Amino acid sequence: MAEELHIDTSDKAGNYNSIISQIKALCEGEQNTIANQSNIIAALKQAFGFFWIGFYWVENSEELVLGPFQGPIACTRIRKGKGVCGTSWAESRTIVVDDVESFPGHIACSSASKSEIVVPIIKNNKVVGVLDVDSDRLATFDEVDHRFLNELCTWIGQHIV
Ligand code: SME
Repeated sequence: MAEELHIDTSDKAGNYNSIISQIKALCEGEQNTIANQSNIIAALKQAFGFFWIGFYWVENSEELVLGPFQGPIACTRIRKGKGVCGTSWAESRTIVVDDVESFPGHIACSSASKSEIVVPIIKNNKVVGVLDVDSDRLATFDEVDHRFLNELCTWIGQHIV
């Protein structure tokens, strides 16, 4: 794999398509999950400039633990059903929050975070973790982010964890 990421900022859907296929190529042939997770996060951060992006993984069926991420330091543990991440896990669904202050129980790891999308990662029909993306602007995430991040997380659940 070429060590350089090709980024097309002219259109978001096109950029997702291109980045997701580059991520698949980058992870192909590498078995180490931390290496792959780290490169997935770095590629998305580099392509879209997200304020914060990272994984949280289920530990002992009761809490999420911080995984590879890029951005400011973050909460290390989140209980099931708590915050946007814990709710996405408990309800096994993607959650888009336009204004984090309007989400009951939102966990503010950084006061700069204004909107957020959390996508569950499912393996063998069980949520094993979530991908969390935060923006420092309101209402950043739309149905394009929803569609492509879901496609990516489906693949991550099948191939990376
Ligand atoms: N805001 C998240 C917590 C994780 S940080 O944003 C990185 C939540 O409410 O679950």
